[in-house]
This record gives sequence, structure tokens and C-alpha cells, in this order.
Amino acid sequence: MLSNDQLDRWDRENFFHPSTHLAQHARGESPNRIVTGGSGVYIEDRDGNRLLDAFAGLYCVNVGYGRPEIAEAIANQAKELAYYHAYVGHGTEASITLAKMVLDRAPKNMSKVYFGLGGSDANETNIKLIWYYNNILGRPEKKKIISRWRGYHGSGLMTGSLTGLAAFHNKFDLPLAQVIHTEAPYYLRRKNKALSEAQFVEHCVAELEALIEREGADTIAAFIGEPILGTGGIVPPPAGYWDAIQKVLKKHDILLVADEVVTGFGRLGSMFGSLHYGIEPDIITIAKGLTSAYAPLSGSIVSEKVWKVLEDGTDEFGPIGHGWTYSAHPLGAAAGVANLNLIDQLGLVENAGKTGAYLNKTMAAALGDHPHVAEVRGEGMLCAVELAKDKEATEFFDVSEKVGPRISAEMAKNGVIARAMPQGDIIGFAPPFCLTEAEADIVVEKTVDAVKSVLG
Ligand SMILES: Cc1ncc(COP(=O)(O)O)c(C=O)c1O
Repeated sequence: MLSNDQLDRWDRENFFHPSTHLAQHARGESPNRIVTGGSGVYIEDRDGNRLLDAFAGLYCVNVGYGRPEIAEAIANQAKELAYYHAYVGHGTEASITLAKMVLDRAPKNMSKVYFGLGGSDANETNIKLIWYYNNILGRPEKKKIISRWRGYHGSGLMTGSLTGLAAFHNKFDLPLAQVIHTEAPYYLRRKNKALSEAQFVEHCVAELEALIEREGADTIAAFIGEPILGTGGIVPPPAGYWDAIQKVLKKHDILLVADEVVTGFGRLGSMFGSLHYGIEPDIITIAKGLTSAYAPLSGSIVSEKVWKVLEDGTDEFGPIGHGWTYSAHPLGAAAGVANLNLIDQLGLVENAGKTGAYLNKTMAAALGDHPHVAEVRGEGMLCAVELAKDKEATEFFDVSEKVGPRISAEMAKNGVIARAMPQGDIIGFAPPFCLTEAEADIVVEKTVDAVKSVLG
């Protein structure tokens, strides 16, 4: 077996890690962690640490680590047939079964599911389908996509453009011209502090209306949003936000894409975030929770309204010119079937709602009054603690102080993984759905300790 030192050297010499300070990593100035195993909500590393992963990897290992049911389903599929493509009507029992299972769980107006590999490529697919849709309908000018500042939709060229976070644009020449951004529904960070929550929703709506007016509704194809802002800060929408936004979109014949890569399959305690908030999307993006990340698989769930037009398009222009070699990969599909079955069998959606509420309540009780905690917020099995220099004045710390990263590093030292969210000093929690109340107590205890150790 290779020594840890050897692996560390090879890692720094050869491995180009995503979302990493490349120079510091290559110079050996930042820690690396070689992960070896996991069980339930815990992972283990080669240094002998056992950590409670309160972010479920990247909010994706929803059923928890080490589930033999999914591992066996993947192994059996690999032995039987590791690969066949899904072009021109090909499929496997797993991919066909999974499509049915996804549709059975999705909002009723959904019609078909296209399978990709990850959330980014699923959103790329969505935008292509939307452009195709408007071309088939004879509206070639209706192409721009509205996204929200702080939205996260991936890091490809189009999806990195949709993402409304500075680090994903800077020095990459993004966003692309077809993407325009509107206000994030982030009440804590509103510019006008005098606004009530209801007035802030009106403000978000007015901003959206003004953008549509400026650009022209006949140039705007779609609006994309996560039911609850995820990577942008884990921010539940203010009451009434989605109703009000959907009215505007309907009025201007703008399609709605609900990006449910994080919320799909139970994270909010409902099967979909759209069902949770009464959103009626035209397309839904799914990934992460579809397989609990046991194998890469994503999907674009297309409504009947969009599907009909796609069908018309192929009648007129021939087979749709879109597909990946690995679309509906059998190993991902087998993982998806086993994963969705397991979620049902273990009642994990219900547990995400129940234990998630407990985690949020306990975290708020423990930290809500801390002088540097501006807000504890969340929904279902999502929770965030936002830090501020002066919480009364909502004045935030300077980025250079690295308050969020220091707190999450301190927590990791004490055996709990939480994520320092990328824009703002926000500690994010998105544990596996199998979290117990006793484990939630550990997460809260270690968060309190770390906040006190860094901020007093
Ligand atoms: C809401 C949302 N959409 C899309 C993506 C992109 O998914 P992937 O990283 O699998 O490309 C993510 C990833 O975190 C996400 O949170």
C-alpha cells in the first residue's frame, strides 16, 4: 500500500482539483484529505480521522455513506451490462424503470426525463431545449435566460453564466451575453433595510419586471431558479416570493426552470422543492439526490407543454441533435433505482423534514443570540449560520478575515464537516437524510464551539 506521504506528493504533483487554490495546493500550503470510507453520516480518512459529514459530500450523499443496496445494484449492473448507449431508442431495464420512478414522483404536469451526468450538463441541456422550443415555435428572438444573483446552476460556459457568483465569472469571460441576472431573494442582505419581508418580495418582483421591460419580453425565453438558494448562501425564499414571480413569468410567456439539483428527492422534507413551495415549472433539473451520488447521473424533467413542441420539432426537422455518450448510463440508472427505493423504504424524505427541523431549531436556539450570528436559517435538511461583524447594522466581516473558512476548519479539526459557503461568511449544513437527533446535537455543539473559538 502506498504511504500517505507518497500519495500526498503525487496528489500535489499531478492532480488538478476543482474549486481549489491551485498555487497553495501545489506548494503544499493547504491541507489535503484522502478519504477512504464512510458509513451513515460519517466518513473516514487515511490519517485515521472519523468525521461527521454535515454537508453530505456536496449536498448529495442523501441516503448516507456505505449503503450496500446501492453498491450491489451497481455491481450487478456492471456484471450484466456495464454500458450501452441510449441513442435512437436504446435503453436498459434500469434506465426505463428509473424514468418511470422519477415521473411518478415529479409534479403531475411533467412528461419525460432526459438523463445526463451531472447538474451542470443537465442545465446545459435545458437551455438548448428552451432555445430549440422557441425556434420551433417561430420565435427566434426569444432566447435570453434570466437567472438570479447568487443562484448556482453549474460551472460550464452557459451554466457558469447562469450561476450568479463572482468567483464563477471572474477571469472566465462570463457571463455569456444571453444570460441576464436579477435580484436574489435574500432578505437579510436587502439594500433597503426599511423594507418588510412582503415589501421586499414586491421589490424583487419590481426588479424582475423592470429587467423584462428593459430587455423586451419577446427576447426572454426562460427564468431559472433553485427553489431555495443553495450555494449562494442557503437562503429560503421570503413568503409569497414564488407565487409573485410565477405571475410575472406567466404574463410574459417566460418558461420556468426549477433547478432541483439540491432539493430534488427529499432535501426539504418534500419529494421536490417545487411541490414544497407551490412552484409549477416547465422543466426541472435533477442530479445529486437522484443517485445519492453513488454514481454520476442527472436529468432534465420536461413538462408536457415543452415536450409537445419538441415532438413537433422532430416531426419537422428530424431526430433531435442532442445527446451524450453517457446519457442514461446503466450504472447510474441502476444506482438511481436502488437509491429511490431505499429512500422510500427508510422513510428518508420524512426524516429529512423532521430531523432537519430539529437541526434548524436546535441551531437557532444555540446560536441565535450570539453577537456575531446575524441569522440562523434553513428548511428541511438545509441549515445556514450567517456571521456578521455587527449584526444590528448587518455589517459583514471583510473577506480577508476568512471568518467562515476559519470556523469550518475549526469544526473539521473537531470532527464535523460543514461548508464555508463561497460568497459571505456563511456556514452551511446539508447532512444526509438519515441524520439522527443525537447526531444533529453533535453538529450544533461543534458549531457553537467553533464560532466561540473564532469569534469569542
Ligand atoms: C442547484 C445546482 N444546480 C446545478 C449544480 C451543478 O451540478 P454539478 O456540480 O453536478 O455539475 C449544482 C451543484 O452544486 C447545484 O447546487
